[in-house]
Order: sequence, then structure tokens, then C-alpha cells
Amino acid sequence: MKTQVCIIGGGPSGLMLSQLLHLKGIDNVVLEKHSREYVLSRIRAGVLEHGFAKLMREAQCGERMDREGEIHEGFFIAHQGELKRVDLHRFSGGNSVVVYGQTELTRDLYDARDRMKGVVIHNAEDVQPHDLTQPHPFVTYRQGGEVVRVDCDFVIGADGFHGVSRKSIPKTVLREYEKVYPFGWLGVLSRTKPVSPELIYAKHERGFALCSLRSQVLSRYYIQVPLTDTVEDWSDEAFWEELKRRLPDEVSARMVTGPSIEKSIAPLRSFVAEPMRYGNLFLAGDAAHIVPPTGARGLNSAGSDIYYLYHALVRHYKQGDSQGLEEYSSKALARVWKAQRFSWWMTTLLHTFPANSDYDNKLRDVDMAYLFSSEAAQRSLAENYVGLPF
Ligand code: APR
Ligand code: PHB
Repeated sequence: MKTQVCIIGGGPSGLMLSQLLHLKGIDNVVLEKHSREYVLSRIRAGVLEHGFAKLMREAQCGERMDREGEIHEGFFIAHQGELKRVDLHRFSGGNSVVVYGQTELTRDLYDARDRMKGVVIHNAEDVQPHDLTQPHPFVTYRQGGEVVRVDCDFVIGADGFHGVSRKSIPKTVLREYEKVYPFGWLGVLSRTKPVSPELIYAKHERGFALCSLRSQVLSRYYIQVPLTDTVEDWSDEAFWEELKRRLPDEVSARMVTGPSIEKSIAPLRSFVAEPMRYGNLFLAGDAAHIVPPTGARGLNSAGSDIYYLYHALVRHYKQGDSQGLEEYSSKALARVWKAQRFSWWMTTLLHTFPANSDYDNKLRDVDMAYLFSSEAAQRSLAENYVGLPF
């Protein structure tokens, strides 16, 4: 098989790039390890920054997002029994975010790829990039008993944190930065009316909690749990009880509970790999960086990678100018690190760290008091939450 761009990974990053390139007449193939059903069964976060939503529309995939997604102009932070609102709209110069589940977004991208007869190969086993520093790289994969070779100009590593792409960069070239947090998030999806029309991030001494939603009939809630906990440790009843304990009374009192339709624990981790380019391989999204979910930056950081890469590839193919590709890694990483900083800050502010001293805890409390006493601090929070410019 021969193509211009071979994309490894059919998650949101790979599919979005595939769709955008196709619309510009750039031939590409997506190789995905799992079945479509498997990819679409993963429940992920659901807050899209303004720039990401724009990219979805540019990719001709924004119709359902615009119809079913909710525009949120603010969210709440709960602390010491009080609810305080962060006015995103006011403090970000009129910006907002779109609450729309990532699973639905991925489904829209797949539908668009089908409509345009895009090539997405599922259940591609043993995907392996080759000759990345040569002018003609290629990728091999296995399907059934057969090994298939894809010749291409560029390989895009959009295969998530556990993918093969990053691992094919030599250790002498790659530098990895990592921070592992000593807790995870237990998440529950339930077919109940959300307790609040806007998200509530709660700081509580028993641990962080988050009230989020997918629609007005589908709620998504999270609580901070020790890494040693398993899903089996948490009955639905125990989850609701603990969630309510961490929220202000007025919120708990109106909480509608019900059976969980999904329950999972995710550890919190920050990770960045540098550089994001090796020869003709370009990393994008979770393959190159991970954030804890607190600031809702994960998918949005992937979005800025795709934006830079898309424009760089179009410039290369349409104008014969490779400067965008040359600059990709440094440009993408500059924004990635800002998202890392923001996610780390919000995680540190809102979670209970087992090893914290009283002094550390006092600083978190004063950070919170400062936030709500200073418009400058709220402006900074809002600017980062709605997404820094690409
Ligand atoms: N070969 C082919 N495909 C692979 C391989 C491999 N060796 N390894 C992983 N994949 C596939 C996975 O099955 C998955 O569908 O690559 C895809 C990567 O998708 P994601 O993990 O969703 O990563 P990405 O597309 O970058 O999405 C951005 O940001 O914080 C997150 O939750 C957010 O998932 C979102 C991500
Ligand atoms: C979610 O709805 O799953 C969600 C929302 C905001 C976050 C993280 C997760 O910061």
C-alpha cells in the first residue's frame, strides 16, 4: 500500500488529522490496533475548548457537537461549604467551553471518515514504523496471517500513551518527564439529572470531587481515591455517600442518585516526551503527553498538536515549504508545557495529598482565598481553562 501520511492510532488525534488532511486532498491511512466498538466503548472526559470545537467544525464534524453539546460560560469551585463561580465568559474576554463527551466526538469523526471513504484499518496487529530517518519511511502491520507494508512520506504517532510510536524513538534522543500523583479518580456515569447545570470542582479534606455531565439526563461524577482502591471496593451506595460528603450541604441535598452505568478508576499522571519529532515521525496527543484530568486539558492539548501538524503538512504539500514541519516539535511543546503547568496547578490546588504538611495545606487554602479575592487570578484561571491561543 502507498500513501502520503500513515497515521498510527484511531483515537481522536489520529482521526481528526486524517479527516482534515483528506479535506485538503492529502492521502492518508489510519492504522488502529483495536476494533471500532472497543475504541467507542472507552469513556473519557467531556470538556472541549473553543479552539478544539472550531477544529471539529473545520473538519466538517461539528454538526452534532453544535446541536447536542452544551456551551458552558462558567463553573463552580466548592470549598469549606461554599460554592463560588468562576465566570469564564467574563474573565476570558467572552470565551466559553463546550461540554460534549469525547466518546461521541470520536463517533462523529468515524462517521465523517466513513462518509468520505477514508481508509481506517482496524485490528491492525504488530504495527511497526521503519526507516524513520530515511527519505522513504514505511509502516508494517499484521492482519490475520498476512504482513502488510504501507509506504509513505510521513508517519504520525497518534497511538496514545501505550502506543508503539514513541517507543521507536531511540532512548538517546528521547527525553521523558513524568510526575505520578499518589491518588486516582473513581468515575461514575449515571442516567440521572446532573446536580448542577455547570461543573462543580470540590476541594475537601477527605479528597477532591467533581460533578460533571454529558447531558441533562446523564451525569458524570468523580471522587479522589487512594491508588490501592479498586472498583470492587466501591459499591454505588458507598460512592454516592462519599461524593455527597465532599460537597456543600445545599448541593448534596439536591443530588439525584441512581445505578452506575460505568465505573472505573484512573490514576493521575503528568508526562511529556521531547522532542515530538524524530526524522519523518511526528508524535501527537497522548503519545507525547498526558495530563491529570483536573483542568480538562487532555484532549485539548491533543487538539493543538493536530492544528500545528495539519497546517505544517498542508504547507509542505501545497507550497513545498517544510518550515512548519521543522518548527512542529518546539511549537507544540511550548503549548503542551503551558497545559502541563495549568493541570498541575489545578490538581495541586484541589486535591488532598497524603504527604502534605500543615504548612502545605495552609498554602492551598490561601491559594484558594487569593483566587476568589483577585480578578487577575480568576482571569488567569479562565484564560487557561478555555484554552490558550494556538
Ligand atoms: N498500533 C495502532 N494503534 C494503536 C497502538 C498500536 N501499537 N497502540 C495504541 N493504539 C491506538 C489505541 O487503541 C487508541 O485508539 O491508538 C489510539 C490512541 O487514542 P487515544 O489514547 O485516545 O489518544 P489520542 O487520540 O491522542 O487522544 C487524545 O487525550 O487526554 C486524552 O482523554 C484524552 O484520549 C484523549 C487523548
Ligand atoms: C468529565 O466530564 O469527564 C470531566 C470534566 C472536567 C474535567 C475532567 C473530566 O476536568
